[in-house]
Amino acid sequence: MPLTFPLTPTSTPSTPDTIATIHADPGFGVHFTDHMAVATWCIGEGWSGDAVVPYRPFELDPASAVLHYAQEVFEGLKAYRHADGSIWLFRPERNAQRMIASARRLALPALPVQDFLTSLEQLVRVDAAWVPDAGGGEASLYLRPFMFGNEAFLGVRAAHRVSYAVIASPVGPYFAGGVKPVNIWYTDEYSRAGKGGTGAAKCGGNYASSLLAQQEAADNGCSQVLFADAGSGVNTEELGGMNIGVITADGELITPALTGTILEGVTRDSILTVAADLGLRPVARTITLAEIFDRVDSGDIVEAFACGTAAVLTPVAEFRSKDGNHVVGSEPGERTMQLRSAVLDIQYGRAEDTHGWLRRVV
Ligand code: COI
Repeated sequence: MPLTFPLTPTSTPSTPDTIATIHADPGFGVHFTDHMAVATWCIGEGWSGDAVVPYRPFELDPASAVLHYAQEVFEGLKAYRHADGSIWLFRPERNAQRMIASARRLALPALPVQDFLTSLEQLVRVDAAWVPDAGGGEASLYLRPFMFGNEAFLGVRAAHRVSYAVIASPVGPYFAGGVKPVNIWYTDEYSRAGKGGTGAAKCGGNYASSLLAQQEAADNGCSQVLFADAGSGVNTEELGGMNIGVITADGELITPALTGTILEGVTRDSILTVAADLGLRPVARTITLAEIFDRVDSGDIVEAFACGTAAVLTPVAEFRSKDGNHVVGSEPGERTMQLRSAVLDIQYGRAEDTHGWLRRVV
């Protein structure tokens, strides 16, 4: 039976004034809407208890599996308000499929694509007033579906009881400076993911293991950390929280190929498609850090960007490392900004959705 996520409304809805105040300065991931979607999976029974309920803290048994063995996966996508007031999701089926793949890697149950979509659509419909107008910027409602082992049991095995939820947060740009170019710190000390590990899964553990390196990045004036592959230590993989791409002087857009240790970014994939539409030559291949740094220094790589749902495309100013800095440029690159606009224009309905990526909710 498909899940329907029926509504139990809050008795204390936020006032339009409260929502307007939050929309005026949303930040990123600090304010949450009035409701959340929930469902529970139990071994032998499958999914049940699907509902949209008032946003509230979880009550977790201290022995709950996620607190000990980090059996958790999550997703990130946004709801966009178009100029006519309608509300749309961008390629949500991709997130649904990726969550199934992530869940499989973490020995969590699959939530069927249709149930995932229904959970998002029900929550966005109920909290539609929280989806900001884009205005001149890029405000949206960030949706965070997640799933975790929620059985009180200290043995190490897949939990027999699993919680699924979706929360929603009105957001502006991920980086506080907006689309100002950011610095990237290359760490030769820490790895993000090894062969056969969880690198391709969107699981909290990958992000937890990036945090110390991310702190090192911040200490060196950088907004994100860049990881090499754990095996050879020479190939470019991804950033702490997003994918990476570079653009050459002769119009090639290169991003590391998916090797099983890199997150299959929906924005990454969309950029590869849009790049071809804009006359760039998109290439997903193994690219060493040495190639990036040398070609930045020689002026052959003229632009670099971080990309993800949260960051959209954010230009890179400099790659920094213990061995020196490689300066791309302090101004946003022209083609990076063209790509950024091309993606945002589709998301906000300002350009024709020629790839069929949008799904209307309201
Ligand atoms: C996203 O881009 O949606 C992510 O999940 C990454 C995180 C940096 C917010």
